[in-house]
Amino acid sequence: MRKYFSSFFLIIIILVFVYIYQFGTLDLAHIKTRSKDENKIKEKIDSKEECKPLKSFVFLKKHKCASSSFQSIFKRYSQENGIGALVPFYGSYGGGYPARFQPQFFKAPIIFTNRSIRCHHRFNADVEPALFPGAKFFTSIREPFEAFKSNFNYHYGRFYIDKNLERRDKSCSVACWGEPFKSIVGKLNVTVSDYLNKVEEEGLPPDDTPFLFRVKNFQGFELGLDSNNFDLKYIYDEILRLDDIFDLIMVQEYFYESLVLLATELCTSFRTLYAATDRMVSSSRLKEKNTNVEYTKQQMSTFRKDNIQDYAIYEFFNKTLWEKIDKYGHERMTNDVEKIKKIYKECDKNRSLCEIKKIKGEIGEPEFQPGTKEELLKVMAENGGTCSSGVFKSIQEEQETHCSYMDEEIY
Ligand SMILES: *[C@@H]1O[C@H](CO)[C@@H](O)[C@H](O)[C@H]1NC(C)=O
Ligand SMILES: *[C@@H]1O[C@H](CO)[C@@H](O)[C@H](O)[C@H]1NC(C)=O
Ligand SMILES: *[C@@H]1O[C@H](CO)[C@@H](O)[C@H](O)[C@H]1NC(C)=O
Ligand SMILES: *[C@@H]1O[C@H](CO)[C@@H](O)[C@H](O)[C@H]1NC(C)=O
Repeated sequence: MRKYFSSFFLIIIILVFVYIYQFGTLDLAHIKTRSKDENKIKEKIDSKEECKPLKSFVFLKKHKCASSSFQSIFKRYSQENGIGALVPFYGSYGGGYPARFQPQFFKAPIIFTNRSIRCHHRFNADVEPALFPGAKFFTSIREPFEAFKSNFNYHYGRFYIDKNLERRDKSCSVACWGEPFKSIVGKLNVTVSDYLNKVEEEGLPPDDTPFLFRVKNFQGFELGLDSNNFDLKYIYDEILRLDDIFDLIMVQEYFYESLVLLATELCTSFRTLYAATDRMVSSSRLKEKNTNVEYTKQQMSTFRKDNIQDYAIYEFFNKTLWEKIDKYGHERMTNDVEKIKKIYKECDKNRSLCEIKKIKGEIGEPEFQPGTKEELLKVMAENGGTCSSGVFKSIQEEQETHCSYMDEEIY
């Protein structure tokens, strides 16, 4: 069986190479997914009455993939079922981000059994499945260029002038706002188009440039891949490993379809999966500016070249999502999407229609001692997560960080 698989793979890889060579793009349409739950999905759908709510789950919150909406949905689900969550050391990054998830970088008490995680972190396929016994795994992806424009705007575009950036960096920030865009183009208030032209002329800076991962395979990076590795065999091996671990990878472009499938995975009602839609609308001028722009073939190929992993990931997991939709049944899916949309509309008008009953779960014994802030900052810096602003600046200048947790002595 193994032998069969490896020769199967070799052929696929050769085909992909030939395809890329000829057409300059990736085509995953012919790769057969080996979703571990091909039969399980069917079973789960057929026996909805018997499903049980989860005790534990991992939601990998990735940047700019409808992940705040999904996060608030997972929060509601947790509250309804008494599932506690691991909380970042400080700020919004957990687990030593941008390092791959490390268990000590969370607030005490650090417990994984019968718990969840739903904050930003970088996936660690070697560690997380074993740490969360019996957990289900979820994340979301988005069309790579759409995700990029949103990321560009969120981390850089919306700041326009240094004063806005400084204001954002003041209190307990580890996000290094503006980076690496500002370092690449040398200033603020540059459009996506100008950025792409600059990268086309000069290429990207060296791999060890802090926060470079935001512009190079950002989705692959947050899913735990080495974002500087463009070897196709590596990329497909990693994709298949993720396909084995994750129970559902949702797709922003098919938000409501993803929710319908999520309801089955979580064994919950559609009403639990409500997220206020007013929070989903970003109202930035720059975003609008970049949305209506036509990008040239050259610009798109510049972008594609640096984001091969993300295109491969997106094509693959959009395919697995649609395989699940096929199994669910298209007519049934259409009906259920309408049901969820109706609930969203009703609850947007009147939030109390979607109020949930919260219960408190039991909390077990601590399983890990938290690390120290020195360890955390070291690990972050070693993984391209440093800069000379925010917390990093405060510490260099021996100023207060304004991070309540960091400034305290930890045990
Ligand atoms: C986790 O939940 C299961 C099922 O309710 C329970 O049997 C077990 O004792 C719990 N474990 C801990 C460490 O809380
Ligand atoms: C940003 O650039 C645009 C032109 O691209 C200009 O009209 C605008 O005034 C600039 N904004 C700031 C705050 O400098
Ligand atoms: C996702 O996959 C479906 C089914 O194969 C396809 O019709 C659709 O165009 C894909 N979506 C995107 C945004 O690529
Ligand atoms: C909102 O829904 C609640 C619960 O059904 C109901 O009691 C209340 O009257 C509704 N409010 C409005 C403004 O319709």
